[in-house]
Amino acid sequence: MNTIEKYNKYVMKSYGRLPLALAGRGKHSASAVGEDGKLYIDFGSGIGVNSLGFCDSEWAGAVCKQAVLLQHNSNYYYNKPGADFSEKLCEITGYTNMFLGNSGAEANECAIKLSRKYSFDKYGKNRHTIITLVNSFHGRTLAALSATGQEDMHNYFFPFVEGFVHVKANDIAELKAKLDDSVCAVMFEYIQGEGGVEELEQSYVDEIFRLCSERDILTIADEVQTGAGRTGKFLVGEHYGKQADITTLAKGIGGGLPLGICLANEKCAGVLTAGTHGSTYGGNPVVLAGATAVLNKVSAPGFLSEILKKGEYIREKLAVLDEVVSISGKGLMLGITLNEKKAADILEAALEKGLLTLTAKEKLRLLPPLVIDYESLDKGLEILAEVLS
Ligand SMILES: Cc1ncc(COP(=O)(O)O)c(C=O)c1O
Repeated sequence: MNTIEKYNKYVMKSYGRLPLALAGRGKHSASAVGEDGKLYIDFGSGIGVNSLGFCDSEWAGAVCKQAVLLQHNSNYYYNKPGADFSEKLCEITGYTNMFLGNSGAEANECAIKLSRKYSFDKYGKNRHTIITLVNSFHGRTLAALSATGQEDMHNYFFPFVEGFVHVKANDIAELKAKLDDSVCAVMFEYIQGEGGVEELEQSYVDEIFRLCSERDILTIADEVQTGAGRTGKFLVGEHYGKQADITTLAKGIGGGLPLGICLANEKCAGVLTAGTHGSTYGGNPVVLAGATAVLNKVSAPGFLSEILKKGEYIREKLAVLDEVVSISGKGLMLGITLNEKKAADILEAALEKGLLTLTAKEKLRLLPPLVIDYESLDKGLEILAEVLS
């Protein structure tokens, strides 16, 4: 049996996979070689995870060095990669402290628990509702799925977790109407990634922050997809001039190893006390050694402005194509609305020609590695232009 046949026999079919088995890194960090021997340009980063591309030498070096030094210790003890990483992330973001976990869903679970406990500690029972947005995506665990504002995902797994109310994005009147005395937090993606690269309006974000601060309701920004430089700022909230009480990160911050983070400001930093939350693998030193290499690169002078430049470059090249109606998103997180062609068909045609892309709802979605070089960009854009024409 080959790789694909083994997967189909031994791994649950919970994903709609494409017929490609990847073997390793290509010539550039933004290209990979398939088991079929073909070279693939990467405009997807493993859904925004491989922020430094395939097997970045500094990231891989840090991971390998740590793997032979200390691969894990329980959270009863401390380790240096965890200390250095958390210090640097607080310096970069301005947050006070963090909980370290393993995935986006887990980071959001922590944010949900933290905000409910914040409210319980201060106001007692029954102030536990979390408002989230229609079309949001917060993960696949039961609480994260309950938070997710997509009705078609609320199936099969009943009963879902109580206490989530979904409101229409950018509808200030509905938000105001739902902000009753039971609400402890409002949770949102500034740009809904899985929801189709849909950006929140500035005025709506302003209102979320104003209304929440008036009533001591916490703001939770899910930056699992937008964070760690993806949009040309370290956090996409910076584009809006805002910092939520809690921000969650995952995907790109780990550079390819599992890492989920719940960042808390001063107000929220002391809420989760010993015994109230935990995760066996959370804060793994190998993962954090790699993540520190990601932070070092992303926070280097000029790195983020390059992302904005590359994003503009892609937009300019695509905007002239007849099939492209509009482009949403920021930096290297782009959603392309097509005229007649279906995004899923374009994705398959591009794969056939050696380009990895993504879709989000009806749009074609691009999340290239943040370090992508112009040669790879040009080659990928050439393929895209060809399949779109
Ligand atoms: C905004 C957002 N939140 C949460 C998640 C869930 O992350 P994970 O799959 O690591 O649990 C995702 C994944 O796509 C996401 O895009």
